[in-house]
Amino acid sequence: MRPIVTWGLRNRLGRIIQPDGHAVMLAVDHGYFMGPTRNLEDPRKTITPLLPYTDSLMITRGALRNCVDATATVPVVLRVSGGVSILSEDLSKEQVTTSVRDALRLNASAVAMSIFVGSPHEHQTLVGLGELVNECEEVGLPVLAVTAVGKELEKRDARYLGLATRLAAEMGAHIVKTYFCDNFRKVVDGCPVPLVIAGGPKLNTEQDVFQLTYDAIHDGAVGVDMGRNIWQNDHPVAMIQAVRAIVHDGASVREAADRFKHRKDGKRGKK
Ligand code: 5RP
Repeated sequence: MRPIVTWGLRNRLGRIIQPDGHAVMLAVDHGYFMGPTRNLEDPRKTITPLLPYTDSLMITRGALRNCVDATATVPVVLRVSGGVSILSEDLSKEQVTTSVRDALRLNASAVAMSIFVGSPHEHQTLVGLGELVNECEEVGLPVLAVTAVGKELEKRDARYLGLATRLAAEMGAHIVKTYFCDNFRKVVDGCPVPLVIAGGPKLNTEQDVFQLTYDAIHDGAVGVDMGRNIWQNDHPVAMIQAVRAIVHDGASVREAADRFKHRKDGKRGKK
């Protein structure tokens, strides 16, 4: 019997979670159900300036093939689920839409799919996750599960997220993406695989984003897989640099705010 977690799987995971144990992932996969959402109308324009500052890019195959140069060196976490749009009342009717073969052809470092625990299509998404893990482990490809809540943002508490993240890990996900919440430590403690947090809809201030990032890292998240709070900001490059400083350099909220201001005002910082 071959070991389940092969050298290849560990090597790919290492492209996403850096040697310091942390990860800054840039999420630009929103178009798969939101269409041309604000500031992601032209993905290439949004993504290109941010590429030097992200450890990996979470993206669909269509956006990757059309909006990122094939010579790019950024590791790709390929969103492989979909099947429903923002116009639908129930966003949970997702399933795998992109094959593992295509993920490998695109040189993905991992694949990502959503699960919708407690939603009408809970069963199909959980079984889908198990099947995706079966297939991906055959070829050494890590699977990131997203504990999606659709339009029910109020679900995001420690009890629900603790359940959903644990289910994802039990089905075999190698990384889980979830939301930050009060008592997040409890979610981390109940999940035996690394957690990254989404940013969610745009927060009111940059300070709020830095605080969210800081709290998540200090409560045990390995990093962020953040989208709108970076590229819907008027200064996305400054934003990702500041978030990166918290995740990788141990910056405080205040230091991140200083870094943001510095960069926003035109003084270039290093990566
Ligand atoms: C949708 C996703 C998005 O990538 C995710 O929500 C992250 O982006 P944001 O920080 O904008 O919430 O996985 O299910």
